Amino acid sequence: MTASNKITITTPDDWHLHVRDQEFLSSVLPDSAKRFARAIIMPNLTDPVTTTDRAEEYRNRIIDALPNEYKLTFEPLMTLYLTNRTNASEIKKAINSGFVHAVKWYPAGATTNSSQGVSDIVACYEVLETMQEEGMPLLVHGEVTDPNVDIFDREKVFIDQFLTNIIKNFPKLKVVFEHITTEHAVTLVESASSNVAATITAHHMLLNRNALFKGGIRPHHYCLPVLKREEHRKALIKAATSGSQKFFLGTDSAPHTKNTKENACGCAGIYTAHGGIEFYAEIFDKADALNKLEAFASFNGPDFYGLPRNKSKITLTRKQTDIADTFPFGDEVCVPFRAGEKLAWSID
Ligand code: DOR
Ligand code: ZN
Repeated sequence: MTASNKITITTPDDWHLHVRDQEFLSSVLPDSAKRFARAIIMPNLTDPVTTTDRAEEYRNRIIDALPNEYKLTFEPLMTLYLTNRTNASEIKKAINSGFVHAVKWYPAGATTNSSQGVSDIVACYEVLETMQEEGMPLLVHGEVTDPNVDIFDREKVFIDQFLTNIIKNFPKLKVVFEHITTEHAVTLVESASSNVAATITAHHMLLNRNALFKGGIRPHHYCLPVLKREEHRKALIKAATSGSQKFFLGTDSAPHTKNTKENACGCAGIYTAHGGIEFYAEIFDKADALNKLEAFASFNGPDFYGLPRNKSKITLTRKQTDIADTFPFGDEVCVPFRAGEKLAWSID
């Protein structure tokens, strides 16, 4: 096979992942553990992970649910869910734990299980001060929640109303602008200092907002932040494949049951862990930038978080494999991204 039909890279990490809890864990964890060495685990459980003690319990449930073959090769990197009441001593406890690697800021009401999130970021300034001093990253769901703001503008308005101020007021704070979806976000991250970075999902680089309405309403393409215009999709691909150290892989794989997606009020979230690295290989290949995939998927994330790069390798091959229509998800089923279609790249 020629070089471009096969690529071997350092084992990647997923810097933004939802694995849910209880009976759902064992349905989704193998997909991530098969591809990634580590994943930043989102704390937005029904009962959110607001303390270090809860993070430890959740981490143990995840490790228990991992198949034996992955217990030593896959490390869940835990996060805390920021609230108006989180205090600096909890942050210090989290840092000292060694297993909590970031704090997630969900604006209250912005997305799934965010009702206990932050309604007043100024109330969190002491916490942000501590995080800045200690080098603890703040992960940001960057959307305003004001229902009067058009849903397609919520990321841009968040930048203007909140993020610019946070970056100015906490110039040394490590900030990861999560799952960016617009050219505005790319520009902000590029122009900020080296302690500001962003994750980019595969689905935001593969689809534009037309995919929500192709021949009818498509609940499995609904996620938050919502898909954007084609010009934004292109800007994300350009950023991801640019070679800039500020952008790295975060799938935001977010499983929901088929019933809660195919519903009069369907949940936000797209399950992509079954092609967690393969979808990115397809995107980088199409952009003629496969040589930039390893840095994006395997180097920039750990370098930003101050963690060692992985030592093992994985090989991706340009070979189609089937994607199931559904897979078992707890007692129900989940519909994966591109259900019934093919992955263009496969892992060996
Ligand atoms: O689409 C999304 N799904 N966006 C989020 O921010 C949360 C996630 C989820 O937890 O389902
Ligand atoms: Zn997410």
